[in-house]
Amino acid sequence: MKVKIEKRQNEIKINPRLHGQFIEFLGNAINDGIWVGKESKIPNVNGMRLDVINALKEIEPPIIRWPGGVFADHYNWKDGVGKKRKKVFNEGFGTYSVETNEFGTDEFLEFASLIHSEPWININLLTGSAREMSEWMEYINRKQASYLSQKRKNSGHEAPYNVNLWGIGNEVWGGGGMMTPEQYVADYRKFATAAPTFALNQFSEDSRYFILSGADANKPKERRYWTSSVMKELAKARPPKVDGYDLHWYNWYLGKDFSASATDFNADDWYQVISGAMELEDILKEQYDLIQDGLEQMPEPEGEFDQKLEKIDLILGEWGNWYGKAFFEEKALYQQNTMRDAITTAIILDILHSNADKVKMASMAQTINVLNALILTDGKEFVLTPVYDIFKMYKVHRDNDVLDINVTDQNNNHIKFFASIKDKIIYLNVINFDLTETININIDLPSQVSRYQREELVANDMHETNTFEDPNHLRAAIVEQHDNVSSKELSNIGIKPMSVSVFKFELN
Ligand code: AHR
Repeated sequence: MKVKIEKRQNEIKINPRLHGQFIEFLGNAINDGIWVGKESKIPNVNGMRLDVINALKEIEPPIIRWPGGVFADHYNWKDGVGKKRKKVFNEGFGTYSVETNEFGTDEFLEFASLIHSEPWININLLTGSAREMSEWMEYINRKQASYLSQKRKNSGHEAPYNVNLWGIGNEVWGGGGMMTPEQYVADYRKFATAAPTFALNQFSEDSRYFILSGADANKPKERRYWTSSVMKELAKARPPKVDGYDLHWYNWYLGKDFSASATDFNADDWYQVISGAMELEDILKEQYDLIQDGLEQMPEPEGEFDQKLEKIDLILGEWGNWYGKAFFEEKALYQQNTMRDAITTAIILDILHSNADKVKMASMAQTINVLNALILTDGKEFVLTPVYDIFKMYKVHRDNDVLDINVTDQNNNHIKFFASIKDKIIYLNVINFDLTETININIDLPSQVSRYQREELVANDMHETNTFEDPNHLRAAIVEQHDNVSSKELSNIGIKPMSVSVFKFELN
């Protein structure tokens, strides 16, 4: 099989924000997953687990979304600030437990800064009001002395946080309100307009980024209707501020009566889940086109004060594998992640990379203890799943230019490629999801290579994973390093079954 890597005609840059994360008050995502409290015996920074902070710091998630998800629409930010926190009951996705609200706004923003991540806060559009939203924003961002900025200062945070990413609504077609596009856009207009600007004067630049709740990407008919209807509604009168459109998509694998398991599966399940992941690409293209069609309908400005709404970024705000059995877990939506999930994560990230001209931001659901998790915890126990290794290996693609790949003489189609370049270094991802066959490839590069290396994550059995007892069973490692290569073509490179490799080629 020949793999020719070439420069693209038109440049596509990979936005680092495609590697974002998502944490919610759901199951043990936050409580136990991040928050253990200052008095805990588990090493912590102001109540937040040190093991989790250190692991996430290494992959530096460019963005992190919070507090939900469904929970966002039941969240009152006032319950989670100041000395006295309010206990509430959390029913979200089978969580059914008391939420102490000890991890509130200030804790989340400290956490985001500790892991070098930009916060994305989703406001409550369902049970909250526009006033509550603007007060929350005031608490977080107001510099000038006001009652709410003083409240933040009393909590020990003198400087405003300057949060820019705001989600207005979550899954408003379902748990976020069962709304029609008409109802939602009407509410959205109100909330987006009520939000404070934090401008220095009336001509200063607006750094706020408002995210509109997009379609349920898992429903083909509904998602097309939803996106085109939302765009039509926005075009009916002066459009409000909209910067991003947040699509949610899960690679559902439920089985009969929700019996599909994350760890107990056969070869057929392996291939079905992997082919499910590949469906995302067409959905993203379809949704991008619908947004562009919608933008063409936006009203033309009629005066100096009007601006045409010309651009809305496509965002994938929730994505990941979701198996039926997760619904019955004691800790809601808890899922182990095997090599199968590492492979689908690699495939999905490569779909996002290749479509970086269309998709500008994404966050995986969810970072810890829920669904496609990077990290699992249980009291003092902690383990990094193989999904973590994929994010770590793929970090090298951030801010790079996408390259073209031309594959010929393909004798096995259980293989995927993606490549990008920055500063004369090419990074090539090769995913072999065949269960038995090593696939040999010849790589043809655009110019001579002086050095190259390969990092690999590989399993010997499809069920392999990392557990608290055997935490480093599957771990990515540098398996090849070659200096003084002086070659444009590299032949007969064996790609093992059930593996993800990232090659680094240093060009002359
Ligand atoms: O990620 C789990 C849940 O899935 C989120 O709370 C919700 O937005 C989605 O349906």
